[in-house]
Amino acid sequence: MRKITIAIDGFSSCGKSTMAKDLARRVGYVYVDTGAMYRAVTLYCLEHKLIADGKVDVDALRQQMDQIHISFRLNVQTGCPDTYLNGTRVEDRIRGMEVSAQVSTVAALDFVREAMVRQQQLMGAEKGVVMDGRDIGTVVFPDAELKIFVTASAEVRAQRRYDELRAKGEEASFEDILQNVQHRDYLDQHREVSPLVQAVDAVVLDNSNMSIAEQNEWLMNQLMQAARE
Ligand code: DC
Repeated sequence: MRKITIAIDGFSSCGKSTMAKDLARRVGYVYVDTGAMYRAVTLYCLEHKLIADGKVDVDALRQQMDQIHISFRLNVQTGCPDTYLNGTRVEDRIRGMEVSAQVSTVAALDFVREAMVRQQQLMGAEKGVVMDGRDIGTVVFPDAELKIFVTASAEVRAQRRYDELRAKGEEASFEDILQNVQHRDYLDQHREVSPLVQAVDAVVLDNSNMSIAEQNEWLMNQLMQAARE
């Protein structure tokens, strides 16, 4: 079967990463979590005091963009790639509430997006890639052979993130998380640069009431069909 490019876009916390990771592992494709890249830039901003009261020091960040190196390295224990920021593993820190609360602001900056999109296009240049994000099917790989747009209700997504944080032993309030999910949906859809929109040729997957196994099967069928065409 020929190798193709798979773009998985959609709202935050709707299980995109889990399904994209599983699919990549099953078919031997490279998996790229583009949200992790925007999260890593946000962590860099927090660590370098480039965010204060929700405001980014845009000039300083622009100047330091070429000092921000994001890479993925396979974690042999999980079989999935971990995110590294300037050589340090940041996989856990980029998932905390502090980064989650600020990432939409950083991801809305045009020069940040340009730098990330360039890197993403290089990472997927050889095809055989599953990339998840918000603008993969519309901006990063508009010619992707398979585009999936994933969605689920805000409550279902907040519950999933709540369970995820609790499982890691982090304190979390469901109400705060729900608000964060809704706020990020709004920002993702209303930002000026590359807002979250469904590509016209994307297949929609509403997984509010689907099990992981059902999703995986659905996805595999989509892949087989797209790779055969
Ligand atoms: O998928 P996620 O929740 O880890 O994404 C984190 C943030 O990054 C989210 O607010 C949307 C943004 N993002 C983006 O703007 N473009 C992408 N391709 C991926 C994520």
